[in-house]
Amino acid sequence: MSLVSRQPEPGGLLETVRERRGHAREMDQLQFQHATAKHAEAFIALQERSTDLKLYGPVGDVDGALREIAENILYLLRLGDELVGCAAYRVRPDGSVYISNVVVDPAHRRKGFARAAFTYILQRNRRAPRVDLVTHPENAHALKLYGSLGFKVESRRENYFGDGEPRLVLARCDETTSPPVAASASGPARSP
Ligand SMILES: CC(C)(COP(=O)(O)OP(=O)(O)OC[C@H]1O[C@@H](n2cnc3c(N)ncnc32)[C@H](O)[C@@H]1OP(=O)(O)O)[C@@H](O)C(=O)NCCC(=O)NCCS
Repeated sequence: MSLVSRQPEPGGLLETVRERRGHAREMDQLQFQHATAKHAEAFIALQERSTDLKLYGPVGDVDGALREIAENILYLLRLGDELVGCAAYRVRPDGSVYISNVVVDPAHRRKGFARAAFTYILQRNRRAPRVDLVTHPENAHALKLYGSLGFKVESRRENYFGDGEPRLVLARCDETTSPPVAASASGPARSP
């Protein structure tokens, strides 16, 4: 007689439910801090330990980080003193919103932090006629997240950031208020 394991399959529904329960406390402790110039180096370090050159693009230097902080509303995701992620957006003159710099530390992935950051940003910009972002076509995890939030692929641009890699433009539009505008209208600074 063979024994059937009662352990959930890796990635199965039961496991997902248990993992989520396990992370519920951390989610309650997650805080959003508005980044300022003094956070530039921590922001760079987070990107360096968390991103892939091909899918995300090169991490910039301090000047680049200062520009990102100055030109966007950039949130640092914190668990107490620990920096676990970041996410940014900026509002264009036409009221549309560009989301960028979405990064979660590998040690804190699959805890719902990126989704929480999007929920926060989308809620703050709920009247925007359009929200868009770009991502690498092979960034399957990011594409799954964006699809689940109602973003749709609009176009593919080759060498979008000048790093030789393509990017997909995804948008979430309030079709009742405004037709889509070109994502590059005000020139996105970097990949989300
Ligand atoms: C993409 C990224 C931000 C997701 O962060 P995260 O906090 O782990 O994501 P969440 O836990 O909030 O998951 C949200 C959804 O993303 C998808 N997802 C994220 N990681 C996934 C994985 N490893 N496998 C499958 N789906 C995944 C799922 O749809 C998930 O929803 P679900 O848990 O209900 O199934 C993170 O992997 C990351 O920082 N990647 C490197 C930087 C990057 O590529 N940023 C995006 C640039 S466009």
